Amino acid sequence: MTATVAHGMLAGLDEIDAVGRDSRAGGYSRHLWQPADFELRSWFVERATRIGLAVETDRNGNLWAWWGRPGPNAVVTGSHLDSVPGGGAFDGPLGVVSALDAVAALTADGFRASRPLAVVVFAEEEGSRFGVACLGSRLMTGAIDADRARGLTDAGGITLAEAASAAGIEAARLGVDREALDRIGLFVELHVEQGRGLVDLGRPLALASSILAHGRWRLTFTGEGNHAGATAMSDRRDPVLAAARAIVAVNDAAVASDGARATVGRISVVPGATNAIASSVVAWLDARAATDAATRALVADVAERVEECLVGSGCAVTISEESWSGVVEFDPGVSTPLATTLGGLPSLASGAGHDAGILAGLVPSAMLFVRNPTGVSHSPAEFAETADCLAGVTALERVLRSVLAVPVPRETVP
Ligand code: GLV
Ligand code: MN
Ligand code: MN
Repeated sequence: MTATVAHGMLAGLDEIDAVGRDSRAGGYSRHLWQPADFELRSWFVERATRIGLAVETDRNGNLWAWWGRPGPNAVVTGSHLDSVPGGGAFDGPLGVVSALDAVAALTADGFRASRPLAVVVFAEEEGSRFGVACLGSRLMTGAIDADRARGLTDAGGITLAEAASAAGIEAARLGVDREALDRIGLFVELHVEQGRGLVDLGRPLALASSILAHGRWRLTFTGEGNHAGATAMSDRRDPVLAAARAIVAVNDAAVASDGARATVGRISVVPGATNAIASSVVAWLDARAATDAATRALVADVAERVEECLVGSGCAVTISEESWSGVVEFDPGVSTPLATTLGGLPSLASGAGHDAGILAGLVPSAMLFVRNPTGVSHSPAEFAETADCLAGVTALERVLRSVLAVPVPRETVP
């Protein structure tokens, strides 16, 4: 870290501290193309411009801040700025702020890069508004069909196509972005760790080895809406009751598995009146396991158990897959040289999904994790010590210096 930028390092986290605070859930709710997201995008443009980068928005709403001319074999670093509802301050923003600080360190001391460099902010990594995680990187890579994506709706029934148009993105052009993808020679995402792996190892930093297979499923329970006082208990077809039993079954399935995880963290009851038996319930299942097959087996077990719960309830259920990510193994051919540059780092598997996982099958990708003392994430309690965050910025800066110093065949000096 250079003396010139050591002062003010990580200040970006303070600068966005008030943006998107959620007084109901606590923490932050920063969702795609809503006021907090627009404010964060403006902040990023201002911040990146201040250190000499030129920012462009791609056809899928991802932001790219380029040092010099955009071009092939680029080294790209960054993460996301959106959050889960009531999320923490670090998941996403730490990677963006660290990237900007690491690049600022390079630009400030006259470093000459042999390859183009960009800081990226991927759109809707958490999938909190439209339901599909890593939406910006999925669209860019074709991991989600563009027509299907355009039709995704938010809680208010607004489609992604409508929201994109309102944000100045041409909805018809959402989808695979070969040009953006072809420019990436290496992607390095720094991220707060979302578990206690580094605490257990007593180390501040690690590289990612893998990401669990994971996906999201929508369970829609239908029954019969009716009056809470006028309907005898024996006459009810109550989807809330069916959903409640099913949610217990989801947990039972995961507990009975060999280390898989299943969660229902989001439920909506229609119409949602205290004095009415609901007509339907939508519950979202998040399921993860160490292999694709184990994840699929878990979901099959869940489906069977849920059907059993409904017997005699008078209710019905449909289960639809909303997103799927197969297990990701980060290429040691990419990660090991970075670990060597950093004097040796442990590697850790990730239970959380990341844009780097979407990119990893297509372009050389790696991740740097920063210790999280409690392991808590997707919660206002998410935390990382400043010293560890600074170690992360320093490591990222060293990685960038090392990979940017290696000339590539084409003339791409910024
Ligand atoms: C993102 O953090 C996810 O794992 O869902
Ligand atoms: Mn997250
Ligand atoms: Mn994240």
